[in-house]
Amino acid sequence: MTSPFSAVKITDDVWWVGAIDWNIRDFHGYVTKRGSTYNAYLIMADKITLIDTVKAPFREEMLARIASVVDPGKIAYIVSNHSEMDHSGCLAEVIKAVDPEKVFASPVGAKSLKEILTVDREITGVKDAETLSLGNRSLTFMETRMLHWPDSMFTYLNEERILFSQDAFGMHYASLERFDDEVDPAILAYEAATYYANILLPYSPLVLKLLEKVTAAGLDFRIIAPDHGPIWRKDIGGIIERYGKWAAQKPSEKAVVVYGTMWHSTEKMARAISEGLSKGGLNVKLMSMSEVHRSDVMYEILGAGAIAVGSSTLNNNMLPMMADVMTYMKGLKPKNLLGAAFGSFGWSGEAVKQLEQLLAEMKVESAGGGISVRNVPDGAILARCYELGLTMADKVRSRL
Ligand code: FEO
Repeated sequence: MTSPFSAVKITDDVWWVGAIDWNIRDFHGYVTKRGSTYNAYLIMADKITLIDTVKAPFREEMLARIASVVDPGKIAYIVSNHSEMDHSGCLAEVIKAVDPEKVFASPVGAKSLKEILTVDREITGVKDAETLSLGNRSLTFMETRMLHWPDSMFTYLNEERILFSQDAFGMHYASLERFDDEVDPAILAYEAATYYANILLPYSPLVLKLLEKVTAAGLDFRIIAPDHGPIWRKDIGGIIERYGKWAAQKPSEKAVVVYGTMWHSTEKMARAISEGLSKGGLNVKLMSMSEVHRSDVMYEILGAGAIAVGSSTLNNNMLPMMADVMTYMKGLKPKNLLGAAFGSFGWSGEAVKQLEQLLAEMKVESAGGGISVRNVPDGAILARCYELGLTMADKVRSRL
């Protein structure tokens, strides 16, 4: 029986030969509710070239898709744009199966792949702006260091004006539809933003520089082909514009209230703060960490102007669910936020100070002293919470 897996045509000479991971739900801490794809691309030039590979368990699927176009043994070059294992996990096995003439990566990628691969194979480092001839086609490489690993690079297929952008401009979305114009725009907008907030946010200053560099180089893309999710062939300007907006991290009239509660006291405070924020003119998202995932919080924080974080005190600490989201958030380095902490306690009450400390380490501007209450908040405490929300809203609006 022939394989059910076949390649998807992008242009006459370029094919998608990746794999669809319908079932993945946890991508190193980021919840991927709609699964993902690992995209690899085949360029049928004089020198047949494979751009990236897929996660190890999906090697056979990728090889079957390649075989629907050409005998994989005819691949001359493999280009690794990014060494993370969702794109290099089967590279050693593919090199053994295909025996290409050469394997290319950025100089840092060439080193890191040597540490990742168990095959003794020379990887050729290519420099920023270097061009590689494929005979009747040519590739130009662009280093994109720390977007989002030190090895990351883009590859541009000059004659076809296709940018192979590895993780950038991608999203975790499993589908048999391969192109942006085949997917509900609301899903594209949500998943692209969630991906940016959970993967690329810490590198926003580099994203801005990269967008400037791409503009200065006058690159005119016809297609952006990322390593996850749909290929952009319709709304290329839209996704580039959104990256510019997300990377700028300008605050908006939006506040996110995130809390963990034991016996609903901290929750009452969270709701009072939310009412004040809303009355003060902000759009509010109230998120209980018992009910939402840390990556949903990051989606909401993208572009927000304020964050209020609350926790009960448990055994002299904030609740583990709040330590989880705060650690995750701190690593993703959101900028330009105004913040405050709140919470209830039974006898010691360390959580609010700990939250304030973390907000300070994240360089979140303080909206004023946190509100901490023993046991259950009374009307006066809830009024203070409401006032805190109003004050935060005023400050956010004055910064816009
Ligand atoms: Fe899709 Fe950074 O790997």
